[in-house]
Amino acid sequence: MSQVHVSQHPLVLHKLTVLRDKDTDHRAFRELVRELALLLCYEATQDLELSAKTVMTPMGEAKGHKAEEAIGLVPVLRAGLGLVDGVMELLPNVQVWHIGLYRDEKTLRPVEYYNRLPTEPTVQLCLVLDPMLATGGSASATVDILKRWGVKRIKYLGLIAAPEGIERLTTAHPDVPIHVASIDERLNDIGFIMPGLGDAGDRQFGT
Ligand code: PRP
Repeated sequence: MSQVHVSQHPLVLHKLTVLRDKDTDHRAFRELVRELALLLCYEATQDLELSAKTVMTPMGEAKGHKAEEAIGLVPVLRAGLGLVDGVMELLPNVQVWHIGLYRDEKTLRPVEYYNRLPTEPTVQLCLVLDPMLATGGSASATVDILKRWGVKRIKYLGLIAAPEGIERLTTAHPDVPIHVASIDERLNDIGFIMPGLGDAGDRQFGT
């Protein structure tokens, strides 16, 4: 479980609780998703590669650092869209590559419907963004797509995971670190995380 990181930051714990509340409206929900994405991104980028860089301050030369890796955000449509803005506040120069997947309601298997990745990889590190890791099927399928694309370093960033999703993603892709705000109790019999927060896509987009 060393690759699984559950944030203990007080602001994450506070905001996640408001997010779960059934009385939180769509507008507040979207704002909280954005804020949580920023906080989790801060934690997930602790090992970014740096090179040495020198700058001139008004007083003279200062040794410093430059973040080197070309980073791609991979929001999984639809619900992953809400995480993009918060992450981009910290990483304004990233590329964004959307992947469209939905879960078949009967089989719970992911169905791919959008993928416009170019032939060759254009980034070194991908952050897969999806608020919910339920069965783990969508996340595993997304990582499969990115590995086939040729990306070597991939991380998953989400809000709430079920133990079943953690198990599936770590088994299929043990090299992919997982950053979430909570690991909840279980999946229910229709594949929703309990207690979770309901449907993250519906709550963001008012559907
Ligand atoms: C939800 C969620 C994940 C997926 C997680 O998407 O946003 O993408 O389900 O479930 P899994 O771990 O069992 O694969 P959904 O299919 O509801 O589509 P949406 O984002 O378009 O609402």
